[in-house]
Amino acid sequence: MSVSQAAPVPLQIVRTVAELRGVMRGWRAQGLSVALVPTMGALHEGHLDLVREGLRRADRVVTSVFVNPTQFAAHEDLGAYPRQQERDAELLDQTGGHLMFAPTVDEMYAPGAVTRITVGDAETGGPSQGLEGDFRPQMFGGVALVVAKLLNQVQADVAVFGEKDWQQLMVVRRMVRDLDIPTEIFGLPTVRDDHGLALSSRNAYLSADELQIARRLNVILREAADRAAAGQPLATVENDAVAALLEAGFDTVDYVAVRQTDSLAAFSSGVVEGPARILTAARIGRTRLIDNMAVQGARFEGLGSRF
Ligand code: PAF
Repeated sequence: MSVSQAAPVPLQIVRTVAELRGVMRGWRAQGLSVALVPTMGALHEGHLDLVREGLRRADRVVTSVFVNPTQFAAHEDLGAYPRQQERDAELLDQTGGHLMFAPTVDEMYAPGAVTRITVGDAETGGPSQGLEGDFRPQMFGGVALVVAKLLNQVQADVAVFGEKDWQQLMVVRRMVRDLDIPTEIFGLPTVRDDHGLALSSRNAYLSADELQIARRLNVILREAADRAAAGQPLATVENDAVAALLEAGFDTVDYVAVRQTDSLAAFSSGVVEGPARILTAARIGRTRLIDNMAVQGARFEGLGSRF
């Protein structure tokens, strides 16, 4: 074997923070850089794309697989959330991931842990306000807490997140900035199936009929994005998109909203006046789907999304 054909490193599975820190110390001593890909498991091609991006950006990739209870409200799908760690490990190994960090809940949240993180509130504003924050008030505090812990545990050079959870990405970026966490946060465009449906672990809940409806989401969102980019009034664009989603078979639509790309603030003039993103959450049966995309107008180029 030549030097350039180094043998792939087999996936390590680690379940404690102490063990993780030991591996990280070893890698650092060898001068290796580290990427973190935080996930809740049930890995699909979208997650594996994040891992591949991690491999491009660092020498070693840690993928966390942890269904984080602090980001679920009591009535949400914490119990039903798909868990398949053996399969996740196989997929990570095949993709070239180096380490799967899969702690138990007690390992991640020691008894008596009371610290919480709030990334903005009604008074300060910030990207956690509105949209998902209105419908899942539990979510961003829980995400911020677990991501801050993972970033401290791994001390990665870069962490890779999917743009599918755009608001989450903006919240994480803001937290990392505000807390001076020295990890670069990289957002990767959403991976979609051949019909444009954003890949999600929750797509596993969809029946065959529901899948057909789900695939209309990105089409309706793209049409609305085009109208917003053309300067049409956002209230009309958003209301029409909600009506189109209900017409397509969605049971309820939590929101369709065109917002400023980074801050997620509304456009006070009611029309797009700068870099913008359209975001939605809608429910079919027991499945809640979210999606978002750039509002690409000739004036606002450079916001490219893969789709
Ligand atoms: O996007 C997710 O899968 C989760 O919210 C994350 C970032 C892994 C935190 O639990």
